[in-house]
Amino acid sequence: MIIAIDGPAGAGKSTVSKIIARKLGFLYIDTGAMYRALTLKAISEKINLQDTDQIIEMARHTEINLINTKDGQLKVFLDGKDVTLKIRQPEITKLVSAVAKIKEVREMMLKLQRKLGRSEDSVLDGRDIGTVVFPDAEKKFYLDAEFSERARRRYKELKDLGQDVTLKDIEEDLHNRDTLDSTREVAPLKKADDAIYIDTTNMTIKEVVNKILDSL
Ligand code: CDP
Repeated sequence: MIIAIDGPAGAGKSTVSKIIARKLGFLYIDTGAMYRALTLKAISEKINLQDTDQIIEMARHTEINLINTKDGQLKVFLDGKDVTLKIRQPEITKLVSAVAKIKEVREMMLKLQRKLGRSEDSVLDGRDIGTVVFPDAEKKFYLDAEFSERARRRYKELKDLGQDVTLKDIEEDLHNRDTLDSTREVAPLKKADDAIYIDTTNMTIKEVVNKILDSL
């Protein structure tokens, strides 16, 4: 069974997806982490992010692994190295949408996502899971929240991780990514027609989780 959870940044997708996967004993696949890992590698190798050909070539020679740990966390490995924390740095967040919009890169990630998702029952979160990656997913959800609430949540999350960010930085980043992700040509962020829409603005994590579990 595939559960697809899409939506913009800060809507609560990854927190909720992780809990649902753990409760159901499903694999949790964070597709955003894959684009983040590629972005980290491009920056580490000093590749010019405008140089699409070079990024595609780099992606062809990259191995990304997602490991679900026993305590319900997700570890992200890039070419064998644990990059779980590094891919959350603001520099990566700022640039990831530029890498994620490249058609050939998305084709490679799509293959990986389908392979993982078909290997066992899975919860996938991202932007295009219900529309492109698994259009036949048994269950689809689109999580959303008001902009100010999404910014507030992301600010708190990063502060808790010890990052030195301001609310204004976060708002700028969310605004830029919302625009880039929903207006790009390939697989833009969009609610699938058959996805259940959940406005999480005034909901707790527990309420969102229960709403999803109740609709399965
Ligand atoms: O956690 P947050 O929502 O901030 O971002 P994420 O899920 O880690 O995704 C980071 C970026 O990857 C997004 O802003 C998109 O540009 C891209 N992405 C995508 O294009 N398609 C997906 N299925 C998942 C993420």
